[in-house]
Amino acid sequence: MKKKEFKVTPWEVSGKVNYEKLIKKFGLKPMPKLPEVFNKNLMFRRKIIFAHRDFDRILDAIENKKKFVMMTGLMPTGKFHLGHALLTQQMIFYQKLGAKLYIAVADLEAYNARNQDLEELRKTAIDQYLLNYIALGLSPKNCEFYFQSERSKEAKKSNSYYRLASNFSRYATFNEFKAVYGEISPGKMNASLLQAADMFHSQLPEFEGGPVPVLVPVGTDQDPHLRIARDIGKRYKDNKFVQLSSSYHLFLPGLNTGKMSSSEPNSYIAMTDSPKEVEKKINKYAFSGGQATIEEHRKKGGNPDVDVSFQYLRMFFEPDDKKLKKIHDDYKSGKLLTGELKKILISKINTFLKEHQKRREKAKKQIDKFLFKS
Ligand code: TRP
Repeated sequence: MKKKEFKVTPWEVSGKVNYEKLIKKFGLKPMPKLPEVFNKNLMFRRKIIFAHRDFDRILDAIENKKKFVMMTGLMPTGKFHLGHALLTQQMIFYQKLGAKLYIAVADLEAYNARNQDLEELRKTAIDQYLLNYIALGLSPKNCEFYFQSERSKEAKKSNSYYRLASNFSRYATFNEFKAVYGEISPGKMNASLLQAADMFHSQLPEFEGGPVPVLVPVGTDQDPHLRIARDIGKRYKDNKFVQLSSSYHLFLPGLNTGKMSSSEPNSYIAMTDSPKEVEKKINKYAFSGGQATIEEHRKKGGNPDVDVSFQYLRMFFEPDDKKLKKIHDDYKSGKLLTGELKKILISKINTFLKEHQKRREKAKKQIDKFLFKS
């Protein structure tokens, strides 16, 4: 049987993702050598963030202490999980570096492309996403958190955002949408144009006053949105825009490989999971690169590259490179057993979640500082 090719689109991620092929196919660039501040962050140091478009412009802004924007959007369906936390850590990293943050709740995208209810989406955006952002360290300073369905209380700002989304439709063709997305419907097309407005509108006079570098860090599945947005932005005449910059991170693997996804409960660790749930999920579902029996494992060793528990340590829970290397080498040599590796991970996750859940309770008091400031 022919092996099924992997698929990475905004509407579907399946199969084993070959990132090198993706870089070629999408025309991305591998991450350049980065200044020291970046290397302190494990996501950059370990190449979890592995590719980019026009990232140099952001490096330049940081180096010369010039203003830049970091923009992202969230689809408020289902539970907030570790995969979302990976992006949140980037948001907070850039906020600390001086970026102005724009965070869009993609409620209209979910309404139009996923048939969700607006009231429900709003609740999920706050209970799941915003609360966890705050608990992970997001500050209300220098941060615009908004709903696509309700951009701003100020008519001037709101009008200019919706005008941009509408005017953008003149600058793309139906064939382009088909070529970039494969599958397209009026709802999805609308979501794509609105997302292009999300990415560019900070550069309007009503927002940051004029052209400013904008970084959009994404999972690779979102690149089609970026390609369309970049093309439209280039053609748009009414305002001058600096081209978008973007960075691409690996998907956090789901427990049973694939992508960690809120639509598959057995694929994720949620921020609200109890210690018992974490223990059960890791022991029962976390895909193992170990051998079938202890004897065989001692003899042949395990494969950390495909082992989901090891990958969680690498991408999230073990910031110390020396300790990580020891776990890696011991697992590979067979000295460390799968059960022991899982135990290390479970304890790390539960320590993290215990603290996080306390911070999440406290975060409730801060919600109002983020909603409808502007
Ligand atoms: N399409 C994104 C998702 O599926 C959400 C989104 C909306 C977004 N606007 C954005 C992401 C702007 C990045 C930038 O999650």
